[in-house]
Order: sequence, then structure tokens, then C-alpha cells
Amino acid sequence: MAKSTKDIKALLAEMTLEEKVGQLVQLNTALLGKSTAEITGPAQKLGVDPAQLKYVGSTLNFHGVEEMIALQETHMAEDRLGIPICFMMDVIHGYRTIYPLPIALGASFDPDLVAKCTRMAAKEATAGGVQVNFTPMVDYVRDARWGRVMECCGEDPYLNSVMGAVQVKAFQGDDLSDPENMAACVKHFAAYGGAEAGRDYNTVEISERLLREYYFPAYKACVDAGVRMVMPSFNSLNGVPSIANKWLIEDVLKKEWGFDGVIISDYNAIGELLKHGITDDMKEAARLAFEAYCDIDMMSPGYCKFLGDLVREGKISEEALDRAVLKVLQLKKDLGLFEDPYRGATPEKEAAVCLTPEHRAIAREAAESSAVLLKNEGVLPFKKDVKRVALIGPFAATQAIKGFWACNGEDKDCISVEMGVKNLLPDAEVIAVEGCSAEWNELSREGFAAAVEAAKNADAVVLCLGEPQNYCGEGNSRADIRLPGVQEELASLVLAANKNTAVLLFNGRPLVLTEIDKIAPAILTMWFPGTEGGNAAARLLFGDANPSGKVSMSFPKAVGQCPIYYNHPNTGRPKRKAEEIHETYTSNYIGCGNLPLYSFGHGLSYSNFVYESLELDTDTMTDESTITVTIRVKNDSARKGREVIQLYMHDLYASTVRPIQSLIAFEKIELDAGETRDVTFTVTEPQLRFYDFNCNHISEAGEFTLSTGYADHLLHTKSFWLKK
Ligand code: BGC
Repeated sequence: MAKSTKDIKALLAEMTLEEKVGQLVQLNTALLGKSTAEITGPAQKLGVDPAQLKYVGSTLNFHGVEEMIALQETHMAEDRLGIPICFMMDVIHGYRTIYPLPIALGASFDPDLVAKCTRMAAKEATAGGVQVNFTPMVDYVRDARWGRVMECCGEDPYLNSVMGAVQVKAFQGDDLSDPENMAACVKHFAAYGGAEAGRDYNTVEISERLLREYYFPAYKACVDAGVRMVMPSFNSLNGVPSIANKWLIEDVLKKEWGFDGVIISDYNAIGELLKHGITDDMKEAARLAFEAYCDIDMMSPGYCKFLGDLVREGKISEEALDRAVLKVLQLKKDLGLFEDPYRGATPEKEAAVCLTPEHRAIAREAAESSAVLLKNEGVLPFKKDVKRVALIGPFAATQAIKGFWACNGEDKDCISVEMGVKNLLPDAEVIAVEGCSAEWNELSREGFAAAVEAAKNADAVVLCLGEPQNYCGEGNSRADIRLPGVQEELASLVLAANKNTAVLLFNGRPLVLTEIDKIAPAILTMWFPGTEGGNAAARLLFGDANPSGKVSMSFPKAVGQCPIYYNHPNTGRPKRKAEEIHETYTSNYIGCGNLPLYSFGHGLSYSNFVYESLELDTDTMTDESTITVTIRVKNDSARKGREVIQLYMHDLYASTVRPIQSLIAFEKIELDAGETRDVTFTVTEPQLRFYDFNCNHISEAGEFTLSTGYADHLLHTKSFWLKK
């Protein structure tokens, strides 16, 4: 599509106040085009004036391309200025072809793969009429109780930044008017993942220094990558809900980072200012949000009912209103909506591009690359010439493995583990036995006997365990993050019956697997792998694919360790003795220790990667000079495999307490059997910066170390000195 020549300033000059306000209102399709009498349910509660509805500028989470076309057609026939509605949606990990959860994509440590998945989602979603996507979510996380950890790439600010920026670029492309590109919206600004005790929507109190060091970088990376929209978060941040937080939006986002795109509230966040107790008046809530630069009000009555009056009363200036409206019109212009309000989306196009074999292949590749082999005492891979395979557990036969927030993906299109193993091993006898439920309150043990029987008679057993896909995601926090129900009991019986058993996990968050780890010789997490999950699982289990994922968020030993994260600051009394030994008067837990069960960066392979050395080309650097790090890795096995080479930095002495290590670079490489490779990274001064007490972003002279390996297993540590 050619670049639009629409004169949006001239258009603005023709708009009435109601028309301008409409551009700043986003309502769902249940409300669009309806009369008061037709508006029911929650929509009625909004108390929206039907006279306003015809001006509404954007909508969210519509029901398919047909609905988009019908609504747009009616609207364009009636809108006197011909300003199209903009259609927005949450396309979090695929549109129809579902790829693994973002936390799993983080575990792939493979930005190219993430770009590929994102392009696939953009192609499908735009064919389905989506023009703006409420993605990426890059909330930094440390607490696995929070259900929305599934939506981000894990507990490392750098990994989150890389993956966030990759998604922004891949969704938006170089030219937003290309109908296969869509606008991205980074969310939830800021620190939504810092919810106290991992309970969704909970209060967030975090020092500015910590915000800047851990929580802000990924949002900033997305802004730097050119993201078109930002969504402030539901939570209060240091006392003020983000949607009305002027420091956050004006000082940080706009002035410091230079963001000048569209700011959209989260669902009814303006209305929630009343629940937060900031005001008891919806009109004042609207004013506060507008003052804090919120351009579009998603699903609250605030702007729709009161923005016009606020302007008429002079409480909001017409210039400020015009600035916000122009931003929305600019987005519509850049998307090419004035030339084609449908952007070429049709049911035929959608059917042609969605769920194609090529897209399924991408989803399978992503599921294979993001699965993490947590433990393997020689059980995996199973031999492919097995005669009888028992798949046991609540995830053995279910197709409900696409994961939470899977847009228009459907369970019926997903390949279950049973289907996947049967596809791979057509000559084997494959039986699936549920054994028990994965629901926390379904405790029946009636299926245990059949499960044990099946295990006894099998050559290989796969225990398919996990949490139901709706136990993670928005509003789904858990206080107990062990396997729900009686799954641990089932596992112990099955493992007693047959040792040639691997645990295959389906989970949207790190789980506490301490009991399972004691008894299972092999554990492979698929997270929620999406449409091709079963095929990917089968190939990994039977060795057609080689696991290469690494833990993107630490798996605690006990829920009491949460929040737990590898890049924590030193204490004045660090633990010195072995993990299992309790030392009074040092910082540690009795009977548990401090380390997670599986830490960030951990993940096994069927290959054997040996880290032979880490060399620095010099042991001093300055603000201008660099250090080249060379890590020599050998694949000391007979199997080709992929490994994530990780580089960690530690600033030994500084004016504020530094993390004991920070990931500053990584690269995923493939090594043939027996191959040795030197991987090099360049370290520069900005990578050594941190926030001092006054929040200046600085580096200080002194000793630093660089290591490879992974968080709890650092290798080849070498020192260097930064000279000032
Ligand atoms: C979520 C957002 C989402 C929005 C629209 C909210 O409840 O917090 O992440 O984009 O709904 O669906």
C-alpha cells in the first residue's frame, strides 16, 4: 500500500468536539452500533450515552474478520468524515497457529525464532482484521505465584529487553502501511510484575533505583525499537496508579525516553481510579488520566461520558485534546486505514494464511526450541524401537495445551501428546491413561490402578503432568505452585512401577517440583507449547529433536522462596557453607537453602557441551576501549545440538550493592558432533553501568568479573579492571 497522503490536520479542523472525543474512546464490539435498549450486561454498567457510540474510534477483542468487516462497513457508511474504526486485539503467542507462551520463548534464548513466530502471528492476525496488537508484554518478574509470568520472557532484564524489541520490530516492520504489519503496544507500564506476593493487580512499591535497574529496561528497549503504543499498568506504583502517574508517564516515558506515540489505558483502568480510592468521581478520574497523557480510554465511561464536558468547562484545553486526537489519527493514517479501512483482510485471506503446514512447522520448531530438559539421568531420549509406550497423566491425551491467552487458537487444532507419539511411532502400541485430574480440588484416585497397570506393561512411560492452562494468565495467581491435585501421588506410584519413565510438564509458570525431582529420573518442561505441542514433545522424547531451551525464570524449591531470582544483590551475610547446611546468622532458610531447584539459564541437552575456556584479550578497559571475550565450547558427544552461550558480569565493589551476577550477552549456537567453536562477545562500558543512589546511570572504576555457564553454575570466571 502506498503511503497515505491524508491531511489529518485538515481533518481535525473539521471535527466536532464529540467526534474528537470519540477518537479517544475504545469500547468492545458488544457496545458499538447499539442503542441503549440493546446495551446489556456489563456494558450497561458503563452507562455509555448511545449518542456517543457512533463516534467511537477504536475497538478491541472483536470476534473474527466477518465482524470487523460488518462493523467497519456500517461505520464507514455513516461516519460523516470517513474516519475508520481501528481494530485492536491481544495476539500474545499466535493468532490461529499458536506458538509457545512468551515465557517459553524466553527459554528458547533465540531472538531469530521469536522474530519468525512474531511474523507468523502478524501475517495471520492482519489477515483476520487485527490492526493493532496489545503486545509485547515485557513486565519484569520474580514471583512465580503471579499468573501473568507466562506473558513475559522471564526474570532477566536483558533477555526481556532483547525479546521485547525483537517483537516490536517484527510486528511493525519497516512500513506500517504494509497490510501484513501491525502496530505493537508495549505493556504494562510499569512494574505490573512487581505485584506484592504475586497476587494479580496488587500494589507495587519499588524504589526508583530498582525500577530503573530491573523493571524499566525492557519497556525502554521497546520504545527505542519504535513501538507505536504504550499501555500503562493497572497497579499503583509507589502510591499512584500508573494511569494517573505523571512522574511515570510524563517525566520518564515522555521526557526522558522521548515517547510520543499513543498511550492507551488498560481495560477500565480509568474507572479503577475510583476503586483505588484516588477519587470518588468518574469525571475527575478522566481528568487525572488525561492530565497524565492517556490518549485512549479503554472500556471505562470516563472519556466517553466526561471528556467533552471537561473541555467545555476549560478543565482540559482544546489544544491538549487536539494533540491526543492527532496522535490517534496519525496511527490510523500510518496503518493505511484511510485508503483501506479493512487493510485487505477477508475471510478467504484469513483461511488461506492461517494454520498452514508452514505455520505449523514454525510452531513446532518453536515448541522444540523452548522446551527445557530440567533433569535427565540417562532415561531420555527413549529408543524409537519401543513396542509399548504408556502416556500417563492428565496431559496425556488432552488437546488443551495451547496455553492461556491464545487468541483465536482452538484446542481442537492442537496436537496432543498421544497424537504426537502416534504420529512419530506408527508401529508402536501407544496407550494413554489419565490417572487423575490436574485440578487442585479434584482428588479422586480412582484412575491410579489403571495407570500403574499401564506403566508396568510399557517399555517407556511418559508422565504427562502439569497445571491446567487457565491456572496461569490474567487474574490467575496461585499461592501453592506445586502440581495441583493428586498428581505427585500418581507420579510416585507410576515411577515405582516403571523406572523407564520421564516426566513431561505443561506449565505456564515455574512450578515447585521438589518432590517430583526426588523421584523422577527425567523431567522435560514443554511450558504450554501451542498448536504443535504433541509433535514437538514426541520428537524431543524420542530423540528426533534435541532439547536446547534454558530456564527463563527460576523454579523455586519451595513457594516460601518467592520472590526468587538469580540476579539478586549481595547481603552483608551471604551463605558460605553448602546449600543444605543451615548457618545461623547468615542469610538463608532452614531446611531449604537459598538456591532454586532449577536456576535461570539451566537446561540440559542430549549433546554434551564442554566449556573449555574463557579468555579476555586484555584485563583493563576504559570508557572508550572494549574487551573481547572468547569462550571455547566443545560438543563432546556424537549428537548435533544447540547450546546457549551465556556471559555474566559481576561488579565486585560499587557505591550501591550490585547483583551477584548479571547476564550481559548470550548467543545460541549449533555444534556438530565433536565440533569445537570459539564464541566471542565484545564488552563495552555501558554494559557495566548501574544506578547509583541518586539514580544516575554510571559505571565506577574497579574490578569486575566475567563468567560463562549459567546462573548457579558459573564457569571460568576472569577478572578485569575498569580504569577511569
Ligand atoms: C489486560 C491487558 C489487555 C487488555 C485488553 C486487560 O485486562 O491487562 O493486558 O491488553 O485487557 O484485552
